Amino acid sequence: MIREIHVKDLQVGMYVHELGVRWMNHPFLRNRFRISKPSEIEKIRACGVATVRIDTRRGADVPAPAGPTKQELAQQVAACKTEETRPEEKTAERMREDTARCARIYRETLPVVRQLMDEVRSGGKIDAHRVSRQVEQLVESAIRNPSAAAAMANLKGHDEYTFAHSIQVSILSLALGTQIGLGKDELTLLGTGAMLHDLGKASIPLRILNKPGRLTQEEFRLMQTHPQRGVSHLTEKGRGSRPEVLSCILEHHEKLNGTGYPRGLSEPEIGLLPRIVSVADVYDALTSDRVYQRGTTAHNAIVILYGLRNLHFDPRILNAFIGLVGVYPVGTMVRLNTREIAVVVSANPREPLRPDIEILTDRDQKPLARAQLVRLSEAEATRGSARRTIAGPWASADGARLLRITGSSFKDAAPT
Ligand SMILES: [Fe+2]
Repeated sequence: MIREIHVKDLQVGMYVHELGVRWMNHPFLRNRFRISKPSEIEKIRACGVATVRIDTRRGADVPAPAGPTKQELAQQVAACKTEETRPEEKTAERMREDTARCARIYRETLPVVRQLMDEVRSGGKIDAHRVSRQVEQLVESAIRNPSAAAAMANLKGHDEYTFAHSIQVSILSLALGTQIGLGKDELTLLGTGAMLHDLGKASIPLRILNKPGRLTQEEFRLMQTHPQRGVSHLTEKGRGSRPEVLSCILEHHEKLNGTGYPRGLSEPEIGLLPRIVSVADVYDALTSDRVYQRGTTAHNAIVILYGLRNLHFDPRILNAFIGLVGVYPVGTMVRLNTREIAVVVSANPREPLRPDIEILTDRDQKPLARAQLVRLSEAEATRGSARRTIAGPWASADGARLLRITGSSFKDAAPT
């Protein structure tokens, strides 16, 4: 398999498939070769490339980061979990109401973001302050019920990715900001910065933004200019913005270990707000369907993010995020120890492995006449002698059909 890796991950024994520089500009005899000594890695680094493509069938692969076990994830969440923002029990009814309220604001915000992006594309003056008015409503929503806001952002529709992504990242960032205890003013700056984080992409040609194949080095470099472009649009063509908002735009691709862009900042130099946006951005990008790939499951995205804690993401923020969305985020289809299939309908921050679920099939995986709500945290959640527990995520093309025919509360949110 050909895979692109960062030069810092190069090791002796890997087979270089493409260096990304012309033959005359690198010191090796061939364009493709096996790395046989550490000095060759130094020579590759000296070429100034950030990434290299390797062929894992002909040489060593990058060791996979050790994935966390369910228990490890749960322990991390429990150890770092912030206090629950609302002590009273959130009923399924209340979750539904708050999620619906957040979805309404989301729909009202879509045309505002679309118009802003159009203004950037046409090169005229832009008015980013309209975004702040929408953000204020989202802040209220996130403060009222961060779990519902995060759940809403998990329900993927079919809206155009760029606009939908900006708003989803804003909602997720606000839910996370509320979870870690930010005040209302900071939340408004965070929500605005998150909404505008990819504004600079509006001046990247659409043929590159939507390119189904791999970007060339030149296209990739152009794409990497979108943080500075976003800041320039606001400061030159807009009415300016607060530094906290600009830092979200400029630093959302920076990584704790210094391998991000545009400035390669490392841990102490990256602001708190962009660290939050960065987690929300990558989570939403991983779980969204794109022109060139289908999104992964929310559970899988959590596992991937967790594998990058300390490297790309601030572990405290990541743990708060996992506490918020759960190890099995709302909408995840799961398989129980009883072999029944269920869907997660509400996260349980006290016990991340025991969310509220709706059971959709019997133990022979035959659909039930009606989805059955079960709180896994409650002792009486038993069937026969076995207490129900989640055995793991369940992925099947049948998921949407199961949700529909059992009348699950998630039937309208199911991917088609
Ligand atoms: Fe971005």
